[in-house]
Amino acid sequence: MIDLIKTRRSIRSYRDTEVGDDDLREIIEAGMYAPSAGNEQAWQFIVLKGEILKRYLALNGNVPQSAPTGILVCADRNAEKYKGMNTSYLDCAAATQNMLLAAHAKGLGAIWTAVFDGPKKEVIRLLNLPPGIDPFCFVPVGTYDKTAQEAPRRFDEAKIHRNGW
Ligand SMILES: Cc1cc2nc3c(=O)[nH]c(=O)nc-3n(C[C@H](O)[C@H](O)[C@H](O)COP(=O)(O)O)c2cc1C
Repeated sequence: MIDLIKTRRSIRSYRDTEVGDDDLREIIEAGMYAPSAGNEQAWQFIVLKGEILKRYLALNGNVPQSAPTGILVCADRNAEKYKGMNTSYLDCAAATQNMLLAAHAKGLGAIWTAVFDGPKKEVIRLLNLPPGIDPFCFVPVGTYDKTAQEAPRRFDEAKIHRNGW
């Protein structure tokens, strides 16, 4: 597990091969096993492929344009148990990290990409999202040509504090 965490990288270049539904389902399932506030599971997942994916990519230049498949993780504001704490976004962040690790465990590439405020309204319109469903991040998933480079050493003792700052 620790090795999986340390070798995961953001993948920005993909082969032109869609990921199968079984793999996508398992990746989403991993997301659904993430912790969530009060076990509210305030997330929704939208699989994008083909023409709709192309239209999504055209709206979001921050996403690798070669992505053959992807999953839009949406915060379900209606499912939040603790009003005013924006917990749906925290739930989605936890789910997203699980999904990135699950994709990596399958030997697939993935990356967390932001949904910026600018194109958000158009994304909501494109995908017919109902009120309270807020696009949180988009996770392209696909095969990549070569294994990504190892991350430079990230452990930083200076960021660990014991019994106070
Ligand atoms: C909240 C968040 C938003 C991100 N948004 C983007 C994005 O829009 N486009 C992108 O190419 N990478 C995005 N990334 C990926 C980061 O750039 C990447 O995780 C970081 O550079 C570290 O590299 P690594 O994931 O390979 O360890 C995002 C990551 C996070 C956590």
